Amino acid sequence: IDENIPPQTLKDRSVESVANYIKDGHAKNVVVMVGAGVSTSAGIPDFRSPETGLYSNLARLNLPYPEAVFDISFFRNNPLPFYTLAHELYPGKYRPTISHSFVRLLSDKGLLLKLFTQNIDCLDREAGVPDDKIVEAHGSFALQRCIECKTPYPEDMMKQAVSERVVPHCFTPQCNGLVKPDIVFFGEQLPENFHRNRSLPSTADLCIVMGTSLTVQPFASLPSFCSEEVPRVLINLERVGGLGTRADDVLILGDCDAGVRKLAAALQWEEELERVWQET
Ligand code: APR
Repeated sequence: IDENIPPQTLKDRSVESVANYIKDGHAKNVVVMVGAGVSTSAGIPDFRSPETGLYSNLARLNLPYPEAVFDISFFRNNPLPFYTLAHELYPGKYRPTISHSFVRLLSDKGLLLKLFTQNIDCLDREAGVPDDKIVEAHGSFALQRCIECKTPYPEDMMKQAVSERVVPHCFTPQCNGLVKPDIVFFGEQLPENFHRNRSLPSTADLCIVMGTSLTVQPFASLPSFCSEEVPRVLINLERVGGLGTRADDVLILGDCDAGVRKLAAALQWEEELERVWQET
């Protein structure tokens, strides 16, 4: 942050001034953009953190390079590494974090315009964020289909395949294609719901970015679509993307659950936040 540029919208670049901006009713259309960092405290590793990130722990799957596990052409040749990983990541074993609950609380208060998530763990939904408020930019495990004939594949059969680490195949006669969850692999198009909503950040009056390295396009461009005078809050272990270059950017660096608790305290929302989180 260049301290010489005075904020134009906030009083200063503190958590308190963000809380006052919200309490004074200036934030009625908040966009939130999240990545794997909001689910790490639930026990789901992120992708790029050194040591703990998935991409440094996939060596046991002897991939040509880590991202191959989510590459559609690699998957066609060898779907087993993905299904090994799917066994570990499949929803149902994990509980939403306090960061997910904070987004749900924004929605409960009628302040959430849209949550853009890159995560495939469905924890945003499980935290109680309404479906119509969520854009799962990289898809999720919610649905699956044959990659050849696109025939949907039943959830119970998918659950069984994932639990047994078996690669499911399409049961349409003469097809037998590979089945894949509706997760966006490298080389695939993002869902229509992302393209329909990608200009929404330009209508927001507050932007919160949490737990993402902002390295994968087109998602990584979303924060830059916010208007210049709109405060953008980054809650992340490290500074990422262009966050911190604008006059009203606020950086809350560190663990996102701690950062969210700091903001909730400044808003006097701690009890509500804990209660919402305990309920999930
Ligand atoms: N608190 C705050 N920040 C955290 C925490 C935490 N507990 N844990 C991790 N982070 C930060 C990391 O420092 C990093 O900046 O979250 C970010 C996670 O970045 P990535 O691992 O790259 O995850 P993400 O940004 O979601 O990846 C984007 O890449 O592999 C593709 O499609 C996949 O959706 C994924 C996309």
